[in-house]
Amino acid sequence: MNRIERAVCLIGSAKRKGESTSEALSSYLMARLNEHGIATTTFAVHRALRTPDRTAALLDAVNACDIFVLAFPLYVDTLPSLATQALETIALRRSEELNARRPWFLAIANSGFPEAEHNDVALAICEQFADIAKMRWAGGLALGAGGAVNGGAIRDRSMTHNVARSLDLTAMALAADRPAPVDAINLMRRPLMPERLYLFMGNLGWHRMAQVNRVWRRLGDRPFSTSNP
Ligand SMILES: Cc1cc2nc3c(=O)[nH]c(=O)nc-3n(C[C@H](O)[C@H](O)[C@H](O)COP(=O)(O)O)c2cc1C
Repeated sequence: MNRIERAVCLIGSAKRKGESTSEALSSYLMARLNEHGIATTTFAVHRALRTPDRTAALLDAVNACDIFVLAFPLYVDTLPSLATQALETIALRRSEELNARRPWFLAIANSGFPEAEHNDVALAICEQFADIAKMRWAGGLALGAGGAVNGGAIRDRSMTHNVARSLDLTAMALAADRPAPVDAINLMRRPLMPERLYLFMGNLGWHRMAQVNRVWRRLGDRPFSTSNP
């Protein structure tokens, strides 16, 4: 068993600090890894890629870590472009390293649609990355209805109790130099709430946003439709 000492987390959401589900999920996991005696460093992708110096700092940290975690939102059925850019940059750098250590790579995806399987293609892409970047695939955790978390804290006695348990099990496994267990992967995929409730809340939020932006009466507009006169 290798000694697991350092974890690096990359948040793939470009939302402001404290507002993204990706950050909520990863900060919970990083806190659990800390409890296992693992030092953690977190980067936000839009800041980490902004300058060559910051990108170099991210690459150095990834090269020196034992666990690399990417937490990202699903954008158009795949990873956000900045997250893809980060993975491509990391893979390129690591392909040039002859004796690169092989950290675990864990991916955590969350989607706006309620079904967790929307994330599966993106997680398969992440698994390919692990292979190309000479990392050990620790598994992909997929959360549906990510909008219900929306930056809120992950707690073990609330709507997110299965998420918390999944991340607890994942942290325990990674700290013991093992990939995420099947139970953790399955728990993360469980619906946070009944689908109809999520859709009802989503619709409510949509109408409220339209009112705030003074476009509620124009929600049915189809400005680009060719069938409209
Ligand atoms: C540009 C864009 C594209 C998106 N595409 C999808 C998608 O294809 N499928 C889906 O389920 N959710 C999609 N979403 C919703 C986000 O995945 C969802 O809101 C997620 O919870 C955001 O996570 P974050 O808070 O970590 O950024 C999209 C959101 C945006 C802004």
